[in-house]
Amino acid sequence: MTRPRAGVTALGVYAPPKVVSNHDLEKIMDTSDEWITTRTGIKRRHVAADDEYTSDLAFRAVEDLVRRHGEAALEGVDLVLVATNTPDALFPSTAALVQAKFGLKAAAFDLLAACPGWLYALSVAQAYVQSGQARRVLAIGAEALTKVMNWEDRATAVLFGDGAGAVVVEAVPDAYGLRSLIIGADGNGGGLLHLGSVGRCLPDGTRLSDKLHMNGREVFKFAVRVMNTATIEAVEKAGLNADDISLFVPHQANLRIIEAARERLGLASDRVIVTVDEYGNNSTASIPLALAHALDAGRIAPGDHLLLVSFGAGLTWASAVLTWGPWTAPTPSPIPVPSA
Ligand code: UT7
Repeated sequence: MTRPRAGVTALGVYAPPKVVSNHDLEKIMDTSDEWITTRTGIKRRHVAADDEYTSDLAFRAVEDLVRRHGEAALEGVDLVLVATNTPDALFPSTAALVQAKFGLKAAAFDLLAACPGWLYALSVAQAYVQSGQARRVLAIGAEALTKVMNWEDRATAVLFGDGAGAVVVEAVPDAYGLRSLIIGADGNGGGLLHLGSVGRCLPDGTRLSDKLHMNGREVFKFAVRVMNTATIEAVEKAGLNADDISLFVPHQANLRIIEAARERLGLASDRVIVTVDEYGNNSTASIPLALAHALDAGRIAPGDHLLLVSFGAGLTWASAVLTWGPWTAPTPSPIPVPSA
C-alpha cells in the first residue's frame, strides 16, 4: 500500500506587539545598532509582555490560523504538537494547554529539538498522518525566549525574540506536500548552546544555568556547515535540483548564515525569505513566521517547491522540501508589522 503524502494545509502566526529595536538595546547594554546589524542582520525583535508566556503565543497563532482558514481547519485534529524550548512548565505540556483551550478531542505532547523543533514536529506529524494514526495534526512552534535571556551577556541577548506559528498537517494530493524531510542530531555539541532545567551539568561537565548560554562562534561554524549539507540532502531526496526551488525559507538566526547557504545553493537573492531583521531569532517559530510573510507578500504560489532548513542546540538540524498547495491562499489581512 502506498503511503499518502502529508502536507501543510493551514497556517497561522503571532508575534507580540511589543518591539525592542537595536537602539533600545544600546540604552541598556554595551552594544550598537551598527554591530548588531552588520554581524546578524537583526534590526528589532518582538518581545512577549511580562505576563505573556509560550502558551499564550501558541493560542494566538492558532487563533490566527482559524481567522485565515475558518473553524473547519481544526476539525479532525487528532494530535497537537508544540515544539518549544521555553514551555510554560515541564508539565503540563504546552500542547495540552492548547488542546484544552480549543476544545480539541486530541492527544497532545511537547517536543524539544531546539530551533529545528518545528520541522521535527512536521516529521512526527507526517508519520502520524502516513500511518493513519491521525487525520490531522496541529503542529506549533512557539517561544518566549526573551524570558530566559541573560541580559548581562550582550553576545546572546541581542539575538533572540518571541513568537509562534501553527500549521495543520494532513494527507494531500501527491502533487503537493512534503517531498523530503530530514532530521538529524549530534549530541557531542551539546555544550555549545544550552539552557538548564532540573540537572546541574551535562555529561561532559558543562555547567547549566536557568539562562540561555551560547558559544556563538562555534554555533556559527556548525550552522554554515549543516545548512549546506542538509539543504543539498533535502533537494536530492526530493528528486529535484536547486534550480527547481522557488523559495528558500531558512531558519532566521543570522543574515550571514542565510546568505552563505543561499549562495552555496546558487539561488538568486530574490529566492530567499528574510525576516530576521524584524524578529531576530525566535527559534521554533522562525520558519512558520517566514512562511506567513512570504505568503502574505504573494511570494508563494500553488505548486512552488519550498526549501526549509534549520539548525540549533543539541546540536540538531532538519531540512525539507515542501510543495505548497492551492488551499493556503494569502490571508486577506496580513499580519501587522509595526513600523520601526
Ligand atoms: O538558532 C541557533 C542559535 N544561534 C546562532 O545562530 C548563532 C550563531 N552565531 C552567530 O550568529 C555569531 O557568532 C554571533 C552574532 C553570535 C557573533 O558574531 P561574531 O562575528 O561571531 O562575533 P564574535 O563572537 O567573534 O565577537 C566579535 C567581537 C567580540 O569583541 P572582541 O573580542 O573582538 O573585542 C565581542 O566581544 O564582538 C563583540 N561583541 C559585541 N559587540 C557589540 C559580541 N557581542 C556584541 C554586541 N555588541 N552585542
